Amino acid sequence: IERTLVLIKPDGVTRNLSGAILARIEAKGYTLAQLEMVNATREVLEQHYEEHVGKPFYEPLVEFMLSGPVVAAIFEGNSVIAGFRSLAGATDPTVAAPGTIRGDFGRDWGLKVQQNLVHGSDSVLSAEREIGIWFG
Ligand code: GTP
Ligand code: MG
Repeated sequence: IERTLVLIKPDGVTRNLSGAILARIEAKGYTLAQLEMVNATREVLEQHYEEHVGKPFYEPLVEFMLSGPVVAAIFEGNSVIAGFRSLAGATDPTVAAPGTIRGDFGRDWGLKVQQNLVHGSDSVLSAEREIGIWFG
């Protein structure tokens, strides 16, 4: 069975949207396999976002992810990686389609990083790598 790592980022947790976000993923039919609330460390985030090192949004992104607790979850189901990314919507919440998590709950807050509520793995390789980082 395919697995993906979902993170509810600090904006989602702080705005009390964790339950609503998890409910949407479950309602689509994916199965929650593991769940924890964590205060991420810089070390974990440097591994998680290693592909973005050197990009202009990298440091603001890490600082944002350190700004509050994160909910980390593993969801399972056929094609869950693509299915969750479709449910999450486009990276930029301003243009993410209505009906998606980012489109319905997100907006541009005028900050240096796109606060877009959720992360989802983008391939089987990334999912297994990221699950190892967050769940060991
Ligand atoms: P994730 O599921 O969080 O990985 O989102 P994604 O795969 O849609 O985006 P990507 O992996 O390219 O970028 C990771 C995160 O960096 C995004 O979710 C945003 O929070 C932030 N980000 C990405 N691109 C930009 C950008 O061009 N500008 C800014 N300010 N932030 C960005
Ligand atoms: Mg990504």
